[in-house]
Amino acid sequence: MKLPIYLDNHATTPVDPRVLDAMMPYLTTAFGNSGSRSHVFGWEAEAAVDEARHQVASAMNAADKDVIFTSGATESNNLAIFGVARAYSQKGDHIVTGKTEHHAVIDVCRTLEKEGFRVTYLDPDPTGRISAESVTEALTDRTVLVTLMLANNEIGTVHPIAEIGGVCRARGILFHTDAVQGFAKIPFDVESMKVDLASVSGHKIYAPKGVGALYVRGRNPRVRLAPLFVGGGQERGLRSGTLNVPGIAALGKASHIGLSERDEEASRLRALRARLLDGISGALPGVTLNGAPLPAIEPDGGLSPGEPEHRLPGNLNLSFAGVEGEALLMGMKDVAVSSGSACTSASLQPSHVLKAVGVDDDLAHASIRFGLGRFTTAEEIDFAVAATTAAVRRLRELSPMLSARIAGPVDRA
Ligand SMILES: Cc1ncc(COP(=O)(O)O)c(C=O)c1O
Repeated sequence: MKLPIYLDNHATTPVDPRVLDAMMPYLTTAFGNSGSRSHVFGWEAEAAVDEARHQVASAMNAADKDVIFTSGATESNNLAIFGVARAYSQKGDHIVTGKTEHHAVIDVCRTLEKEGFRVTYLDPDPTGRISAESVTEALTDRTVLVTLMLANNEIGTVHPIAEIGGVCRARGILFHTDAVQGFAKIPFDVESMKVDLASVSGHKIYAPKGVGALYVRGRNPRVRLAPLFVGGGQERGLRSGTLNVPGIAALGKASHIGLSERDEEASRLRALRARLLDGISGALPGVTLNGAPLPAIEPDGGLSPGEPEHRLPGNLNLSFAGVEGEALLMGMKDVAVSSGSACTSASLQPSHVLKAVGVDDDLAHASIRFGLGRFTTAEEIDFAVAATTAAVRRLRELSPMLSARIAGPVDRA
């Protein structure tokens, strides 16, 4: 086992060697511009882009031509939300989103508020879910867009996307989902879920950073978008700029692998996550699970029959009473994870996601996000259990008054 171990796969993922192999030719011999129509270099690049478009589209059951390549999900979210708001401003001026969205959604909405739009930020339930009923209640005759993520990047909560999509379609309101964390990891189908726009990112699915895609429904209904960039008119005029052919080839390959290995990988991750939680909560009192409960699983990590899954298989977010997240991170230097406290910012504000699900400030500051991924092994999980347990114990010993108050098994609420 190589140290440090990486358990921060929601932040980014390493490039899968199979993905690297697929992109290499477009960095070396087949380096053409996919817009060059007059020679083989351009044709080769264009063929790679066409294949990748098909692979990305297939992984979400979309038509190939409805997928547009971008620089990543921040751009995809900006293009989707600004694009719809500006293209439909005659029709309405109201947007519905959630309090647990990524900043690449929330900050776009805040910017639109400054431009005169009204935005409803829905509260999640204590597990982080937003129901289709609460979306229905928020809709008005002026609503042009609902934007809610497929799965949360901190607590892993999966929204009832198909139900929300059904509500939006019935009212003739466009529905965008930031699908970054769930795409190619959990079931996602733009047809059955009635999604009109969806953002994905390469570096969350074992492709490189700096490439992403936006699904833009072409029919039933046809979505109009005001572009963010103008120029060469690439990507149906919605995203001008020379295409990142190697990155796009990588995103295509990563989508294909993600889809073909999805269910098997989800089972493996659920089993590893259970091992992580059981190891930590068996050794330490005062551990709280943030987000949705873990589903009941079979020994191989498959879901028990009829068991719903409202959480990403690789996500575990825990709070450790009586310790401070940043200090804990320092105390477990050989395990790369992230914390729900943002002590780098002057404000010392805890995570807006944990706040939105009702975690108090102390426990939010005491939280750790474990993000398991394709290359995580059981040996690494055992190391993480030992490192976390030792670091929490050490910190609690420094504060005996506090640790005396902490008792009891993990609160799995
Ligand atoms: C849910 C979610 N949306 C959007 C983004 C931004 O993606 P990108 O890094 O591709 O811009 C991230 C990445 O952290 C994310 O987790």
